[in-house]
Amino acid sequence: MCGIVALIGSREAAPQLLEGLRHLEYRGYDSAGIATVALAAGATGGGQLHCLKAEGKLINLTARYEALGAPGQCGIGHTRWATHGKPEERNAHPHLDGSGRLAVVQNGIIENHRSLREELQAEGVTFLSDTDTEVIPHLIARRLGLLQAADQATDAALLLRAVQDVLPLLQGAYALAVVWAEVPSGLVVARKQAPLLIGLGEGEFLCASDTPALAGFTRTILPMEDGEVALLTPLGIELYDAQGARVQRSPSLLSGTEHVADKRSFRHFMLKEIHEQPETAALWVARHLPEDGPLPSPEGLSLVALPLDEEVYENVERIQILACGTSRHAAQVGAHLLEQLAGIPTSVYYASEFRYSPPPLVPHMLTIGVTQSGETADTLAALAMEQERRQLMADPAFAPKLLGITNRPESSLGRLVPHLLDIGAGIEVGVAATKTFLGQLLAFYGLAVAFAERRGHGSGGPDPQRLRALVAELRGLPALLQQLVESHDQRCADLAHLFAETQDVIFLGRGINYPIAMEGALKLKEISYIHAEGYPAGEMKHGPIALLDARVPVVSIAVPGTVFEKVLSNAQEAKARDAQLIGVAPACPDTEQLFDLLLPLPEVDELLSPLLTVIPMQLLSYHIAAHRGLDVDQPRNLAKSVTVE
Ligand code: AGP
Repeated sequence: MCGIVALIGSREAAPQLLEGLRHLEYRGYDSAGIATVALAAGATGGGQLHCLKAEGKLINLTARYEALGAPGQCGIGHTRWATHGKPEERNAHPHLDGSGRLAVVQNGIIENHRSLREELQAEGVTFLSDTDTEVIPHLIARRLGLLQAADQATDAALLLRAVQDVLPLLQGAYALAVVWAEVPSGLVVARKQAPLLIGLGEGEFLCASDTPALAGFTRTILPMEDGEVALLTPLGIELYDAQGARVQRSPSLLSGTEHVADKRSFRHFMLKEIHEQPETAALWVARHLPEDGPLPSPEGLSLVALPLDEEVYENVERIQILACGTSRHAAQVGAHLLEQLAGIPTSVYYASEFRYSPPPLVPHMLTIGVTQSGETADTLAALAMEQERRQLMADPAFAPKLLGITNRPESSLGRLVPHLLDIGAGIEVGVAATKTFLGQLLAFYGLAVAFAERRGHGSGGPDPQRLRALVAELRGLPALLQQLVESHDQRCADLAHLFAETQDVIFLGRGINYPIAMEGALKLKEISYIHAEGYPAGEMKHGPIALLDARVPVVSIAVPGTVFEKVLSNAQEAKARDAQLIGVAPACPDTEQLFDLLLPLPEVDELLSPLLTVIPMQLLSYHIAAHRGLDVDQPRNLAKSVTVE
């Protein structure tokens, strides 16, 4: 959470800092701030620090900048998602030292901030905020004072040294940037378990938490590795590892960030991204489903082409998937496919739970981390923990085998795992994940088919004809999605007013559509603030049915297949309790008679149905929130990328 930027060069820094923050606002929008350092008129050495902050969205900070200005060619910026301290201006970054000449922005959590704060307070330091970050400028200022007292020259190298000396005192995960009025031509950045990339421009450097902030500035980037510290001056970058040794590394080229933030004619990014799903599917089909090949056989694996080493598939007896939120729902659909299609026992874990209570180690395990951003702290930490504990095992059967599924191959996930599936959905700006969820589902369809082909019929895999039929249907998915998005957009818009007073909604699904019921509930909760629960339809009678009455609408996903009749019966039970029933189901006499409102679906193989049933879920949530006049793209209390624990 939180986004940071830092710029040094030969032009005014503030406009570029604000532009960078605009592209990072998805990481948090509780407050924003910048600090710039300008050469003081007539001064020979030091400069003047200008700090501006504003509560709320970036637009408030921009207005303040337009009124007050912030001169200087060197500066730092921050957009905040509150962790320690309320979202008020006094808790906005940058935070300053006691002299007001040193400023710090930070993304992460300093876990030992309380003891550090007490230590500094005992030395007479006064704190102005409730944040964990504020200890950092005071610690650096204290160290600078000691170094200066030891007659060290006041220059950028001194600032670097002071930051390097302070970092070992900080426990937790962080990315930070520091400017000091004494050195207007240098700034220091550092990272530990939080992302930070340096963009190399012409005679200037822009450092940021994520690539969208760099995309319009440069295509040449230097991602910082864990524990690294860098001194940026207009002359170049000095990069150091955690032990202080100089690091030389070549920059790389940024890819795929051209289509940054453009709402086109849509009212919100979320709606635009829902409408982009047929294209997401079409790209995936074009990339991964080669034209009709021969029937799958051990010699000619042909149905799906994924860019993965054969080693990923070898000797896999079990699969575990680690993810959070929407990504976890995609993982649950994936687990269903891997078990039902490929016959591989698969478990899904909340990454935040797995970290602290991992299951006992079993051999021949493939571990998959799913995160669209590639930066979710819990998912990364769970994967790293799994890797470490397996590396300690002498038996090669327990060796770690890690695969990541992400929309951001250049992310921290991309650097952590050796094997990666890029879902290639393009940048998603809306905080509520939509097209990236579809991309994750498609990745799992590809993976399950690839595993099923390799296992072969008879050893847990399905009949090749069945696989072939599924893949043929997948080829037709983009057209089906196009039709579905277009028809349901207006339908859901027309229904939205019915939910104007609604306080609770229940989503029901079974089998492969149970995760879609959970995803429908999550979407509704996060953007409309209506309480919603996703439940396996057959579980309602074991308790939750007590919640139902005429004020609680029930959205029921019912698709022909193994559980169709069962779901219809479960829906009937809800109807008997006066619940208003909304069906996400094919139009047929049974469904038309049962449901009060029907969001009709085309008929597809039950295994493929989540790719369609999720569309009405997304559109219904979107239109309910939009009808309520809520900030759909930036819902309260949320951030797109959850980079704290
Ligand atoms: C999705 O709508 C949510 N905003 C959220 O649950 C999200 O899926 C979760 O934070 C995981 O993010 P990731 O995919 O980037 O890891």
